[in-house]
Formats: sequence, C-alpha cells, structure tokens
Amino acid sequence: MASYVIVGASRGIGYKYLQILSANPDNIVIGLARNPVPVQEKLRGEGISNVHVLQGDLTDNASLVAAAKEVSQITGGSLDHLIVNGAYLSDSTQFISPSEFKGKEDLLVSELNSSMAANVVGAIYSINAFIDLSKKSEIKKIIIISSGAADLDLIAAGSWTGAVPYCISKAAVNLLAVKYAVEFKTDGIIFLALSPGLVATEQNNNLETNPTFKGPISMEESVTSMLEVIQKLTIKESGSFLSHHGDKNWL
Ligand SMILES: NC(=O)c1ccc[n+]([C@@H]2O[C@H](COP(=O)([O-])OP(=O)(O)OC[C@H]3O[C@@H](n4cnc5c(N)ncnc54)[C@H](OP(=O)(O)O)[C@@H]3O)[C@@H](O)[C@H]2O)c1
Repeated sequence: MASYVIVGASRGIGYKYLQILSANPDNIVIGLARNPVPVQEKLRGEGISNVHVLQGDLTDNASLVAAAKEVSQITGGSLDHLIVNGAYLSDSTQFISPSEFKGKEDLLVSELNSSMAANVVGAIYSINAFIDLSKKSEIKKIIIISSGAADLDLIAAGSWTGAVPYCISKAAVNLLAVKYAVEFKTDGIIFLALSPGLVATEQNNNLETNPTFKGPISMEESVTSMLEVIQKLTIKESGSFLSHHGDKNWL
C-alpha cells in the first residue's frame, strides 16, 4: 500500500494522477484543490470513490498545513509520495520576450510575482507542510512538477523567447529540488524536479525545438510515464531534473 498527495489536482495532469492512482485499490490517494467540491463531484460522476479531496492552495500556507494534518489522520501519520503539481501558468506572458517587457513593467512584476508565489513559494510551503509525514515513510519521495521549458540547453537550442516568468519559476524549482535533496539526504528523502513532457492540456507551448516532434502526448501517457520514473527513483538521483522518460529528452 502506498500513499500519494497531489497538490493542485483539480484538472489537467493533477486530476489524471487521481484517476490513474485510484485505479489501484491498494493506493491511498489524496488530491488537494483550491476548490474541492467540483473535484469531488467529478470523481463521483466517474464512479471513483477512493480518492480524498482536501482544500489546499499553493499560495496559502495555512491551508497546506491544515491539509497535512488531515492527511496524517488518513494515512496514520506518514506520506510516501508528495507530488507538487499545481502551477500558475502566466498565459498573458507566453509570447512576450524579455526585452518586450519594456513599457510593460507592471505586467512583468505582477506576473513574475504570481508565478513565483504559486510555483516556487507554493512548492516550499507544500514540502514544508508534508516533510514530517515524509520522514515517517519507508518510501520518502517528493516530486515537484517542473517543465522542459526550464532546461537551459533546450532554451538555448530553440528560438522560443516567451513565457519568461513561468520559465524562471520552473528553473527555480529545479534549484529548489537540489537544495532540499542536500538538506534531507541523511533522512533518506528523495527529491525530484520532474517534467511531464509536452502534454495535451490547455498549456502547450514551443513546438519548434525538435523538427521530428509529433505533437503533445496524452495526459494518460504523461502520468503513466512519470509514475514509472517516480517508482524507479533512488536516493542517487535525488535533486535531479528529469523528463517523463527519466532522462533529458523533454518531448
Ligand atoms: N501541459 C503541459 O504540456 C506541461 C508541460 C510542462 C510542465 N507542465 C506542468 O505540469 C503541471 C500541471 O499542468 P497542467 O498542464 O495540468 O495545467 P492545468 O490543466 O492548467 O492545471 C493547473 C492546475 O494547477 C492548479 N493550480 C493553479 N494555481 C493553484 C494554486 N494557487 N493552488 C493550488 N492549485 C493551483 C489548478 O487548479 P485550479 O483548478 O484551482 O485553477 C489546476 O489544477 C504544472 O506544474 C505545469 O507547469 C505542464
């Protein structure tokens, strides 16, 4: 039996984690969402009755601390897998290059703040809220969902200059994974920044970096692949930034 908490599970990849993980009745599956009721209703509508949905907002530390308390009661005081999935996507800056923020300084600051608040500070809040439960697990895996769009070599090889606040926030979580990996090495907690691939949800971007690219993968394929990577993960890889293939192939 393994327990999973998905932070940001209302839709997209996060919701797909709930669907796939709950298909195994041995799993304890807990989703956190800003607004749990529609998620509970959607699951019920699909006949899924073994998922707990709790309130949790990446920008609200108290909500994550309260959710961790509830999780502790559900799991008996430990947590095997924490997956920090939710993110602020900054749609309005997707096609704005760094220099094009000239004259748009207010937009730059507000979008950078929103991206960092949810994606980076929210990851820290989430991990800090659940770390004591992780310490009590035998499995001890903490995953931050990142993006290939934060891979410096991929950016340098391509021609996509947009999504600056989003990419900065994802590059920051890659660094965060290493910081946590170093801090909790002796506790045996394994951290990973994991890219889901380019996935057919609402947020699809740069298709120009690989001429052989066939199009976005399904959420099913993304989550199944990521779970394989998570399953195989050992303390040796703690702090890494990997793709859903378990390497640096981001597509
Ligand atoms: N799709 C891709 O191709 C792709 C590629 C690379 C990386 N990613 C990463 O994969 C993850 C999931 O993306 P997605 O494509 O599934 O996006 P999505 O369909 O837009 O879903 C975003 C999720 O994040 C949640 N969220 C946003 N702000 C939140 C907050 N403050 N607190 C809690 N939850 C919050 C949303 O909840 P609400 O319903 O409450 O808004 C929603 O569940 C993200 O980290 C994204 O950066 C996706």
